[in-house]
Parts: sequence; C-alpha cells; structure tokens
Amino acid sequence: MKVRKAVIPAAGLGTRFLPATKALAKEMLPIVDKPTIQFIVEEAKASGIEDILIIEGKNKRSIEDHFDSAPELEQNLEEKGKTALLKMVHETTDIGVNLFYVRQAYPKGLGDAVRLAKSFIADEPFVVMLGDDLMMDTVPLTRQLIDEYERTHASILAVKKVPHEEVSAYGVIDPEQEVAPGLFNVKKFVEKPAVAEAPSDLAIIGRYLLTPEIFEMLETQAPGKGGEIQLTDAIDRLNQTQRVFAHEFKGARYDVGNKFGFVQTTIEYGLTHPEVKDELRAYLLQLAKRLETDLTQR
Ligand code: UTP
Repeated sequence: MKVRKAVIPAAGLGTRFLPATKALAKEMLPIVDKPTIQFIVEEAKASGIEDILIIEGKNKRSIEDHFDSAPELEQNLEEKGKTALLKMVHETTDIGVNLFYVRQAYPKGLGDAVRLAKSFIADEPFVVMLGDDLMMDTVPLTRQLIDEYERTHASILAVKKVPHEEVSAYGVIDPEQEVAPGLFNVKKFVEKPAVAEAPSDLAIIGRYLLTPEIFEMLETQAPGKGGEIQLTDAIDRLNQTQRVFAHEFKGARYDVGNKFGFVQTTIEYGLTHPEVKDELRAYLLQLAKRLETDLTQR
C-alpha cells in the first residue's frame, strides 16, 4: 500500500526553549526566516506525502495561522508591489499537501501524541516526522524510508551514529544484523539508555515509517522513561510481533531541539541563505579572528 500520510507531533511543552515557548509552539521557532515545521512539511511534500496530521498542544493558533491565508497582509504586500514577499507568503498556503489538526489534551508523551492519529491513519502505513530534526540529503530522508518500505513492507525507523556519550538523550537500537547496506534487523529498541548500558551508538532520529498495527501497541502502552508514553517502547513491542527495521541515515542532520543545535543550524542555514550568506560569512571570519586574538591575549 502506498505511503501517503504523515503525522507531525507538535504538542510538546518545549521546556528547553522557555521562555520563547511559553506562548509559541517550539515548531514555530524560525531558522533564519522559516519556522522549523515548514521545513518538515516541505520534506513531506518532496517525499510524496499527500495528507498531514499535525498534533497540537495549547499553542495551536500559531501553527494553523502560519499555513492559512493572511488577507490583510497579502493585500498590503500587493498594494506596495512587494511581489517577492507576496510569493513567499503564498508558498505557506499553497503547499501542495492537505493539512489536518488535532489537539493532545495533556502532554503525556510522544507515544500518546501519535496514538491520536489512529482514525486519521486507519489501516495505512504512515510516517511520523519530528520538528526537532532537520535533515539534508539529495533524497529526502522520508523518501528514503518510503523506498525501503516499498521493498520490505515493514516498519522502518531512521537511525544515525551519535557520539557514545550522547546516547542517553535518544532512543537507541540493539542491531542484530545488517541485512543490506545501511539496513538493520533489530533485537531491541531502548529509550534513553544509560551510557554504560547502551546497546549501540545508533540513535533513533526523528523520522519513523510505521505500519498501522502500532496503534494496538500505543493503546495499551504503559508510561516509560520520564513517566511519558514512549513511542520507542511501543515500537519495541511491535518488533516482537512483526519485523521493524532500522535505516542508517548518511546525510546531514541538524538537531534543532536543543539550544546549541539550534544556534548551529541557524548559522549553517544562514551560510546558504541568498539574503544573508555573504554578510554572515564575512562576519564569522572576522569573529573567528577576534576570538583567536582574545585567546592568545589571555
Ligand atoms: P521532545 O521531548 O523533544 O519535546 O519531544 P518537548 O517535550 O516539547 O521538549 P522539551 O524536552 O520539553 O524541550 C519530541 C517530539 O514529540 C512531541 C514534541 O512536540 C516533539 O516534536 N511531543 C512530545 C508531543 O507532541 N506530545 C508530547 O506529549 C510530548
């Protein structure tokens, strides 16, 4: 069956970005000038996804408004002849996919957020895309997962090697065998293991392709790490009834879910952005010199 649907959970509290996330969804924080959720929606579209369900928390208005028309603004830009800006605004409404929304009443965990997609998904395979991870590759990662699904007809998660000391921040796989280049059979999926107990350095990153049987697991899933209903725990149970693969992503991943990653991504993206790249590059070179001088004068 064709993979046409995606779920974007955006109902977390975003505590790592307080106070910015007090009244704004974390997924609306911009990288230079584009909210992270727009990067995700664009990846979905480029991967052939047709329908997207966004799981929202209390800060729902900002996301819905972002993808809605803005008649006053559009009229103003039109009257002033600001056609490039108008085009940019139109691109947020004419995105070429259908958007649907549902609210998660309490932030009980990623697994609970995905569970709310049950009637939207019905009996189709689907992808879960997290706004915390921005991926760059010649073929979008979501498309890579869909291509693997078309070969295996099984659930498949994206993983990436991370430095060993960082594994406790992720879900981690215990690989059984590399069955094809970059494709692993998995013994176990473990959410946030202690560094000493981590079964590998292959961390689950924010793209999952799941079969609809995941909902049977999510509906009976007990809270796990942090008292939250963990998607990783439900996937581990699914793996006991049907094969769940892991696909190693070799492209670039930007973790915008923590402050340092967010700043780093802003710089990297700024260096490719036509409006600011030259100025930013010159500034960074100048800054690097200044920091070096500071260091030698200490
Ligand atoms: P995170 O743990 O990264 O998001 O969840 P968070 O809880 O908002 O962030 P911090 O740790 O407090 O800073 C991963 C993804 O799952 C969503 C989040 O929006 C994020 O995209 N999520 C998490 C939900 O939709 N609902 C939840 O109950 C928890």
